Amino acid sequence: MDIIKKEKKVRTKKIKRNEIRQLTPSEIVEELDKYIIGQQNAKKSVAIALRNRWRRQQVSDNMKDEIMPNNIIMIGPTGVGKTEIARRISKLANAPFIKVEASKFTEVGYVGRDVESMIRELSDLSVNIVKNMKMKEVELKALENTEERILDILLPPLKKSANGTSSDENEIAEKADAHELNARTREKLRDQLKSGALDNRMIELDLSSENFPMLQVLGPIGLEEMGINLNDLFGNMMPKKSKKRKLTIAEARKVLSHEESGKLIDMDAVIKEAVEKVQNSGIVFIDEIDKVAGSNSKSQSPDVSREGVQRDLLPIVEGSTVITKYGPVMTDHILFIASGAFHTSKPSDLIPELQGRFPIRVELNSLGENEFYEILTQPENALIKQYKAMLSSEGVELEFEDDAIREIARTAAEVNEQVENIGARRLHTILTTVLEDLLFEVPDKIKIKKIEISKSFVKKKLDLIVKDRDLSRYIL
Ligand SMILES: Nc1ncnc2c1ncn2[C@@H]1O[C@H](COP(=O)(O)OP(=O)(O)O)[C@@H](O)[C@H]1O
Ligand SMILES: [Mg+2]
Repeated sequence: MDIIKKEKKVRTKKIKRNEIRQLTPSEIVEELDKYIIGQQNAKKSVAIALRNRWRRQQVSDNMKDEIMPNNIIMIGPTGVGKTEIARRISKLANAPFIKVEASKFTEVGYVGRDVESMIRELSDLSVNIVKNMKMKEVELKALENTEERILDILLPPLKKSANGTSSDENEIAEKADAHELNARTREKLRDQLKSGALDNRMIELDLSSENFPMLQVLGPIGLEEMGINLNDLFGNMMPKKSKKRKLTIAEARKVLSHEESGKLIDMDAVIKEAVEKVQNSGIVFIDEIDKVAGSNSKSQSPDVSREGVQRDLLPIVEGSTVITKYGPVMTDHILFIASGAFHTSKPSDLIPELQGRFPIRVELNSLGENEFYEILTQPENALIKQYKAMLSSEGVELEFEDDAIREIARTAAEVNEQVENIGARRLHTILTTVLEDLLFEVPDKIKIKKIEISKSFVKKKLDLIVKDRDLSRYIL
């Protein structure tokens, strides 16, 4: 009875801790909606995949291992939000995220490139995330310790008098006075230190060698790939060097608090947590997977290497153990999101085993004038908002008339149709073309405080270029 209760308690505690960050599927979509216009199917799929991972975590251990991740293939032309969706969910999940280009592995010189390296990079990222998190947790304590160290330098502590060795009462009283004075001065200094009044004063620090880029030991190529770091191997065998350096107190505070936080965190625990994080919540985004989906012509050698890349990817996606410098990392429950345009090939051109590991397929729609209008205006980081913010730093208020934005969206759609469809990326080039002169002339030539962009202004900037196909190929 008691044991069951206890277990329940531990479980609810666990769930609570996880819930701090885990959103429900509809909440995830709601968050994605803040940045990405349309593409509801893709948003829904990634939201489910993400939530399923959390659900899996709550399941009992033997069942847990049976549940496969909902790996996804996103199919859609370039510039419609595939990468953006993946990037956003990694932020939402606070999960280590890495993007690799599948086609990279087929390039000359890359054939057979260690595909496992992506798991190593992901682990590096995870260690950094966890380490920074832990450092934040001990930040206050580290600052306190830093303060004590700086005070020790400013006012070296008096040696403790060995009690009772002196029978001379005067001497004892003198020492007590000296200690009291020292303590009072220390508190005064502490106040000044806290207020920043001493920030520019120079002090000399003994810095341990960790604060210097140690001489880089370059191993033969391949060692790093195997996850072996010579510094780690030999670093501990060398005596810790320290070096004196003169710094201002402000600088010293930074250096020392970094060092102090480092002392306060337990790297073994960090690594353990980081590896767990990679295994259970890591996300690998494999871009351009269609480029390694060979067409059926068998004789061509490029196809062989394409299939080779798929074969290399397979064990990682299927679940295997990759040796990293943090120890073995299992890839079974890492979420893989692949994406590609699949213009000339189909997901069914992938080798069957790989197809099987990506059970979810979603199509993203190509974007038109209306979506462009929304992309320009609605997302929290919308391009127009970005330019407004940048110009307001010059004290200039930038405004767009509504039909000016429409005109930009219309032109983007037109150029995409005539030249090449690069999706929403077209908006960047078009908007910079429209605003280029303005951005150059503020603040020297244009001194007015408010600039209103009208439709005719947009037309004036764009029409000539759009009409000339060759020109638009280069500029837009
Ligand atoms: N549906 C969308 N909503 C908002 N912004 C988008 C959308 N699609 C693309 N973008 C913007 O266009 C650029 C390219 O998008 P990206 O996701 O990298 O394209 P891809 O589909 O080729 O991976 C990014 O700056 C992104 O913010
Ligand atoms: Mg992309």
